[in-house]
Amino acid sequence: MESVTGAGIVVTGAGSGIGAALARRFAAGGGRVVVNDIDAGAAAAVAASCGGTAAPGDAATEDGVAALIGVAREVLGGIDLYCANAGIARGGGEQAAEPDWDASWQVNVMAHVRAARLLLPAWLERGSGHLICTVSAAGLLTMLGSAPYSVTKHAALGFAEWLAATYAHRGITVQAICPQGVRTQMMTGASAAEKLILSDTAIAPEAVADAVMAGIASGRFLILPHPEVAGMYAGRAADPDRWLAGMNKLQRRIEAAS
Ligand SMILES: NC(=O)c1ccc[n+]([C@@H]2O[C@H](COP(=O)([O-])OP(=O)(O)OC[C@H]3O[C@@H](n4cnc5c(N)ncnc54)[C@H](O)[C@@H]3O)[C@@H](O)[C@H]2O)c1
Repeated sequence: MESVTGAGIVVTGAGSGIGAALARRFAAGGGRVVVNDIDAGAAAAVAASCGGTAAPGDAATEDGVAALIGVAREVLGGIDLYCANAGIARGGGEQAAEPDWDASWQVNVMAHVRAARLLLPAWLERGSGHLICTVSAAGLLTMLGSAPYSVTKHAALGFAEWLAATYAHRGITVQAICPQGVRTQMMTGASAAEKLILSDTAIAPEAVADAVMAGIASGRFLILPHPEVAGMYAGRAADPDRWLAGMNKLQRRIEAAS
């Protein structure tokens, strides 16, 4: 899919932030959009603002994903593009509580697995389908101060890569959006350390939507709204020890500032 015009599209977590910007941009581009969010009021408001259809509910649980995909198929006829965008940021390191680790796995990783499980059979049968996962630069690099977030975003990227490697020749496109800071509700709730790292280069959610539209046109796997992340990712791969030393230096700066 190189353009959203006429496409049947689902965006999860589209009641605010990046998901809302994506839903609005897709609708403006002629897409037919199903707007999901666990916050029903937010989903309804965004749907109303762009002529989409609200489909509130939990886009992470097995039942929730099945209900969403069922409703979307009824509304759209078929799903051409599914944006697994809903995500949560739970802070803390190895001491983060079990419920925070578990919720992070469910929303940031298993939501994508569960959606793919239900979408792929129909997509493989017709020979086309498009999945865009909102990951994060934390999935390519790391996010100091947030182990559950970093680890689950790495897993989300791993799953998206696995899908792309497995199904590209069967007409399936998979892409991963990997921004650094984006000015959304999630950033408002970020820790002081996260704000120190992200604030200077933070962008608006609409800028992420711009990058996604360009990414859909190019078909490239990584969608990088902050292009400089490509260099950081390359640096990490080329010399992991040097990269880790740089990250630890940043950690010490954060500790000194707090
Ligand atoms: N804001 C950033 O700096 C940033 C950077 C990189 C990646 N991301 C990723 O972007 C995505 C969107 O985040 P955002 O910044 O727009 O945050 P946000 O908090 O503004 O939006 C997330 C939305 O997802 C919804 N949501 C949460 N759990 C859900 C669930 N189980 N089912 C359905 N909806 C659910 C929330 O109600 C919220 O409306 C996330 O995956 C996040 O990890 C954000």
